[in-house]
Amino acid sequence: AYRASVELGTRYSAADVTPRRQARDAVGHVAGERFTNAADTDPAVAASRAWAARIVGPDSGFVPAQSPEVASTDQVDDVVARAGRATAAWAQVAPADRARALRAVAARLEEARTDLVTAMVHEPGKTVGEADPEVSEAVDFASYYAQSAEALDQVPGASFTPHGVTLVTPPWNFPVAIPVGGIVAALAAGSAVIAKPAPATPRCLEVAVDAIHAGLADAVADAAAGSTLTAESVRDVVQLSRVPDGDLGRHLVTHEGVARVILTGAIETAQMFASWRPGLDVLAETSGKNAIVVTPSADLDLAAADVVRSAFGHAGQKCSAASLVILVGSVGDQRTETGRRFSVQLVDAVRSLAVGPATDVSTTMGPLTEAPGDKLLRALTTLEPGEQWLVAPRRLDAAGRSWTPGLRSGVAPGSFFHLTEAFGPVLGVMTAATLDEAIELQNAVSFGLTGGIHSLDDTEVDTWLDRVQVGNAYVNRVITGAIVQRQSFGGWKRSAVGPGAKAGGPNYVAELGTWSDAVAAG
Ligand code: ALA
Repeated sequence: AYRASVELGTRYSAADVTPRRQARDAVGHVAGERFTNAADTDPAVAASRAWAARIVGPDSGFVPAQSPEVASTDQVDDVVARAGRATAAWAQVAPADRARALRAVAARLEEARTDLVTAMVHEPGKTVGEADPEVSEAVDFASYYAQSAEALDQVPGASFTPHGVTLVTPPWNFPVAIPVGGIVAALAAGSAVIAKPAPATPRCLEVAVDAIHAGLADAVADAAAGSTLTAESVRDVVQLSRVPDGDLGRHLVTHEGVARVILTGAIETAQMFASWRPGLDVLAETSGKNAIVVTPSADLDLAAADVVRSAFGHAGQKCSAASLVILVGSVGDQRTETGRRFSVQLVDAVRSLAVGPATDVSTTMGPLTEAPGDKLLRALTTLEPGEQWLVAPRRLDAAGRSWTPGLRSGVAPGSFFHLTEAFGPVLGVMTAATLDEAIELQNAVSFGLTGGIHSLDDTEVDTWLDRVQVGNAYVNRVITGAIVQRQSFGGWKRSAVGPGAKAGGPNYVAELGTWSDAVAAG
């Protein structure tokens, strides 16, 4: 058993890559996999290594954010006024032409892959292996919402009116895919966008918005005579506005010229927005406290690998990350061979993570983007009654951004770690006598974003799927890395605010406007 688990550790770090729908032949695509899994003699491996080495190295060409911060309420007012005029022009563009424009945007985002990955490595500290598929997700959003734009026109007897000026406020943990998703969805609906980068990641959004502008310009240049796509129609349709948090941010969120906010962030931020502006039309994807259940019927090798990838990818800084693993029956029982074997596998897999800076290609777990706040610090440093460290986290730098991963066992029902989002590299182990009990523990949290089960028993899987309270339920798979169109992404309970449309799903764009009565009634 010990040998097998050591093998697992090795295989784990070798497979640290998020599979993507668009795993095409582009050099550098799924770069992590190519570095580690393919033979050295493969020319694609050599090209991929050279690509990544350039990105992480001193000659990457990375430059910090160029755009100035917005400094006054007058400037905010000006941005909103432009967006209002832009919406009036953009809403006249036929959905088919908006779709054309979004496909051109997708092509430009793909072209900007290297610059986007470079920005993500050097600004928030994402590894190449995490940043590269994030570009694919952004490309997927643009292509997929192009189809959604076309569909708006195809509902017989019904008409759709976009909400109007849309503010997109993304988090820093997916500084490209999440803002691009919001921007292209609003564009698909026919609204102009004000994109406010997270203060920690302005450069990532600048590079993405440059690509979006280039795509819109391409579409205008290619438009046939008489097309509704004109230079005037795309003017100011996407404005990047570095509005700092605080009073100016509040002025923007509460501005009467802003019709709709697409927010991804902590539940506390959504609640703050709502308190500032009651009745504000917010579509928010918020926090998660996500668990993977492992039953004795599972493929335990696969389960250990998927749990660790789900928990520690991007150092756990994903709303979708696994924060708990709930072991059912013998899997969590140290008196059994199964329990002892799984425990060794899990510990080995956690220890196999290569912690380091994102500027080292061999890193599999990069740094925190920001020094931990109170909740994460407590999760990294303090055990609750009955808990033990199976792997104790260690702080590696004075700033507190670099930590080794933590694995705590004995997490008790109702305890701090059971119920609180940590948003960092700590995984807690819980045990349950039965699957029913495991589902109760999983559903006891106030959030409902992602969840997983590892089981090879169909009855168990069906029972779990019937009862688990999450937006994204995954079977025998990692619980991060939702794929556009295949796994539309979004939660319930306290993981979502607003109409509950899921990103990358069939209703998302249709939620960004109002429908004529014919459809509302239907
Ligand atoms: N959409 C991201 C994921 O699924 C957050 O991991």
